Amino acid sequence: MNDPKTQQLLTELRSGDVPRHVAVIMDGNGRWARERGLPRWEGHRAGMKSVRETVEGAAEAGVEHLTLYAFSKENWGRPAREVTALMSLLEEYVAKERQNLVDNEIRVSVFGETQRLPASAQRAIRDLEEATAEGSRLWVHLAISYGSRSEIVEASRTLARRCQEGTLSLEEVTEEELAAELYTAAWPDPDLLVRTSGELRISNFLLWQLAYAELYVTPVLWPDFGRRDLFEAMLEFRRRERRFGRVEA
Ligand code: FPP
Repeated sequence: MNDPKTQQLLTELRSGDVPRHVAVIMDGNGRWARERGLPRWEGHRAGMKSVRETVEGAAEAGVEHLTLYAFSKENWGRPAREVTALMSLLEEYVAKERQNLVDNEIRVSVFGETQRLPASAQRAIRDLEEATAEGSRLWVHLAISYGSRSEIVEASRTLARRCQEGTLSLEEVTEEELAAELYTAAWPDPDLLVRTSGELRISNFLLWQLAYAELYVTPVLWPDFGRRDLFEAMLEFRRRERRFGRVEA
């Protein structure tokens, strides 16, 4: 149940347009843990509650796509203990949330270089994707072992290969053709990017897809982020004027 202020924000939000696609860089778990004298993985564990809040809040508000940056390619460079803890949390997330997601008609897909994940984590992901495949209320996309530059390089290679084979001409190499080779080909670009913990960076996340997204940065650390913060971000989005590089008529 939402508290009265959160409910009021939701009512306001539902009375107008909401972004179709919200993307989130979940940052600040480590700092949240340090402030409490806890190990970093406790911050990630606490962050799982915020994942639930954000998924449920997005569904309540009527968002169609929610993309969460759960693990970057660069994150493989963290201490082995932390990487292992993050992989275990992913499996725990699937075990804990699976039924709730199915009941709420939420579909979950994962994108990124998932072949690098431990076999058990890969199985958990497949299980979650299969179990939630029929969900039509909200589609959640989890970026795991994801890096945007290498995604673009891979897509460019595919186009180059098709040119070499003669199935694509140079003139046919367009923005649409390249976008169609990205993981995200089947979804609209994000309208709104939310980043927690105050950092003003994109961190190799959806570089192509965020071309016209509105950016919203909050100082709130990810484990403290909840529905109310998400609703405030979406209301701020509504107040902004989006011109896509054009001028007013
Ligand atoms: C960034 O905080 C957060 C991550 C690298 C991991 C995000 C993971 C979760 C929220 C939990 C698991 C999620 C799912 C979907 C299973 P940081 O460690 O970079 O924080 P810092 O900048 O304060 O050090």
